[in-house]
Amino acid sequence: MREPQGSRSGELMQAIVCESEAEGNPLRLEDVDPPELKPGSLRIQVTATALNRADLMQRRGFYPPPPGASPLLGLECSGVVSEVAPEVTGWAKGDRVMALLAGGGYAEQVVVDAGSCLRVPEGVDLTEAAALPEVVLTVFLNVFQLAGLSEGDWLLVHGGGSGIGTAAIQMAQAAGARVAVTAGSDEKCERCRALGADVAINYREQDFAAELAKVTQGHGVAVILDSIGGAYLEKNLASLEVGGRLVLIGLMGGAKAEISLGQLLMRRLQVIGSTLRTRTPAEKSALVRGFEQKFGSALQTGAIRPIVDRILPLEEAEEAHRVMQASEHFGKLLLQVG
Ligand SMILES: NC(=O)c1ccc[n+]([C@@H]2O[C@H](COP(=O)([O-])OP(=O)(O)OC[C@H]3O[C@@H](n4cnc5c(N)ncnc54)[C@H](OP(=O)(O)O)[C@@H]3O)[C@@H](O)[C@H]2O)c1
Repeated sequence: MREPQGSRSGELMQAIVCESEAEGNPLRLEDVDPPELKPGSLRIQVTATALNRADLMQRRGFYPPPPGASPLLGLECSGVVSEVAPEVTGWAKGDRVMALLAGGGYAEQVVVDAGSCLRVPEGVDLTEAAALPEVVLTVFLNVFQLAGLSEGDWLLVHGGGSGIGTAAIQMAQAAGARVAVTAGSDEKCERCRALGADVAINYREQDFAAELAKVTQGHGVAVILDSIGGAYLEKNLASLEVGGRLVLIGLMGGAKAEISLGQLLMRRLQVIGSTLRTRTPAEKSALVRGFEQKFGSALQTGAIRPIVDRILPLEEAEEAHRVMQASEHFGKLLLQVG
């Protein structure tokens, strides 16, 4: 525990701290200074936060927080508004809120630009709401805004049982698109189908490109949401229809690969790289409003809902990281904070 360092009230909050970037250094709960309220922001008393694959990378020093962001882990949270900056309109103390964060979610309090916040729909449990912001906004940005998935199109998502995958299945279905996923076990494939995937391919047993060619009668898919990178690049490009878009959001399978530029040219393919965390508050605010416009009603009706694998107490963050590293989960891993 350390001494207070001039926080507003002198009161500390609890947060998960990982000071050393060295692998194997355990996550631990400590008392730290709460964040200062900034112009245009809300203070949230955090109910829950959720893990993202990026947290594992940040911990190992590969994905540092953008300048000005909290050094703590945590890219999303749910909770209750406890303070509103004077110029902010539309939010009041006591509102149920979920927020996209550039960091800091593994803590009792966060301060976040009001534009990055969404209201928690009535039918959604406040704890479970922490599972939504990062994944639904990532899928909306990449699949719908950048890659322009339309009704009737085929979408392929790698890692259908991931946080991102489970959101993508629901959102593609809500938009009237057809969705194929890859996953690492028959059980995960079955759960993806139950969630709405039209096709689920066990990538450990089947060649996804060959399976997709069969399913689409050689036509290919319009959009691929890919977090694997190098290892799948060739098969991804082969699986796209003419004019298809590959959106790269992760590099779990390596950062380097050879690419046939002739294939890109002749089949008019697009490869798009994208990160959400480093975008400006104005960009995030526009993204949130765009999401609400397109998917707000699907969120209200429960057509898009949090898919929660398990909820652990904040102090068990280390165990939650182990589960994610081993890919034992389906959907999101949550940490209960308050
Ligand atoms: N760029 C951005 O803005 C952005 C934003 C959010 C997330 N992301 C990225 O999106 C990815 C998913 O994030 P998440 O938080 O949802 O992670 P997650 O829940 O941990 O899911 C990752 C899943 O990928 C699956 N996987 C591993 N190797 C695979 C392979 N070769 N083929 C198919 N699936 C494979 C694993 O499940 P099984 O192997 O058991 O099926 C694993 O559960 C991560 O790479 C993350 O960095 C990027």
